[in-house]
Amino acid sequence: MQKLNKIILYCRSGFEKECAAEITDKASQQEIYGFAKVNEKSGYVIFECYQDNNAEILVKTLSFRTLIFARQMFVAGDLLSNLPANDRITPIVETLSGCIDKAGDLRVEVADTNEGKDLASFCRKFTVPLRQALRNKRLLLKVTNPSRPVIHIFFISSNCCYAGYSYSQNNSPFYMGIPRLRFPSDAPSRSTLKLEEAFHIFIPYEEWEERLHGGLNAVDLGACPGGWTYQLVKRSMMVYAIDNGPMDEKLMATGQVKHYREDGFKFTPKKHNIYWLVCDMVEKPAKVTELIAKWLINGWCRETIFNLKLPMKKRYEEVKNNLQLLKKELNNKQINVQIQAKQLYHDREEITVHVQRIWG
Ligand SMILES: C[S@@+](CC[C@H](N)C(=O)[O-])C[C@H]1O[C@@H](n2cnc3c(N)ncnc32)[C@H](O)[C@@H]1O
Repeated sequence: MQKLNKIILYCRSGFEKECAAEITDKASQQEIYGFAKVNEKSGYVIFECYQDNNAEILVKTLSFRTLIFARQMFVAGDLLSNLPANDRITPIVETLSGCIDKAGDLRVEVADTNEGKDLASFCRKFTVPLRQALRNKRLLLKVTNPSRPVIHIFFISSNCCYAGYSYSQNNSPFYMGIPRLRFPSDAPSRSTLKLEEAFHIFIPYEEWEERLHGGLNAVDLGACPGGWTYQLVKRSMMVYAIDNGPMDEKLMATGQVKHYREDGFKFTPKKHNIYWLVCDMVEKPAKVTELIAKWLINGWCRETIFNLKLPMKKRYEEVKNNLQLLKKELNNKQINVQIQAKQLYHDREEITVHVQRIWG
C-alpha cells in the first residue's frame, strides 16, 4: 500500500507562490512540516509532508474554508508517471486500494491552464472506464453520495497523474474547485460574476433566503457601471450606488438604485438600515481594510463583501497583514465577526473577503 504523503492544491495560475506560502504557514501552525514544490504558472502546488500520515491528518483537520489561495485541496501519493496508454487504470487503482473505501464521487481533473484545457476531453472520456473499475473494487460507491469522500485523479499530462481523495465536508464541492456560472446577458459588466461567485462560496445555500432576500438595503462603493449592483437588484434589494462614474441605465430604470456621485471613502449612510456593504474600489488594500473596519465598528452594515486588489510582490503577507489588522481593530472594539477570504475563480490580481457581524 502506497503512503499518501502529499497535499495537492489547485490555484489560479500565477499564484502558486502565494498558495505555497499559505499552506506552509497554516500547516506549521498545526505543527505539520513539509516543503511546497512550486512550478510557476502551473496552476497547482504540491506540499510534501516530512512525516508519514501527516498529509492525511492535514487534509482532514486544516479547514479548507480558511485557505485563501487554494481552490481545492486533497491528499495524494507520488506522481504516477509513464502510465501505459493501454492501461492507465491499474496503477491508479493500486494507489488508491487500502487508502480509500466507498468514496462518494470521482473527479478526473486538470490544472486551470492552457495545457490543462488540452487534456480536458481525454479526462472526460477516461472517467467512464475508471469509474467502472473503481466501483468493481468497491473503492467507489455505485451511486454518487455527497457525504462520502471524493476521489481526485489529477492529470498533468496524458501519462502522468496524481491519485488521491478529499473529504466532502472539507473541500470545494466544485469540479476543479471552480463554480460554473453563466454570465447574465443583461448585466452591465463581467465583474458581476465575482459577487455572484462570492455568494456561492461564502453563504450557505440554506441561508440565502434569510441573508440575500428582497427588501434588504445595500450599499455598493465603487459601483459603476453596476455589475455588483446588478446582483443585489436581481435579488430585489434596494441599493445605494456610490461612484463618480455613470451607472447602467437599465439598472437605474428598475427604481431600486439610488446613485450618489460621491467619494466612497467619505460616504456615510443616512439611516442605520443597511444590511449589505459591497466594495470593489481599486485602492490600496490597507485603505480599503480601514474603511471596512470603520463601517463595521460604526454598525453601518451587518455583512460585507469586498475586494482587496493585490500588489505585485509579497501578496500572501499583504493579505495576512490586512486580515490581521481587521481582526485586531474589531476585537479591540469587542465586535464579534466571522471573516472568510478567497481568491475566487473570477478574481484576477485580487482576493475577495466576506465579513459577517455576529451578535450574542
Ligand atoms: C472595478 S470598478 C467597479 C466595477 C463594479 N463592481 C461592477 O461590477 O461594475 C471600480 C470602480 O470604483 C470607482 N472608484 C474608485 N475610487 C473611488 C472612490 N474613491 N469613490 C467612489 N468610487 C470610486 C471607479 O470609478 C470604478 O467605477
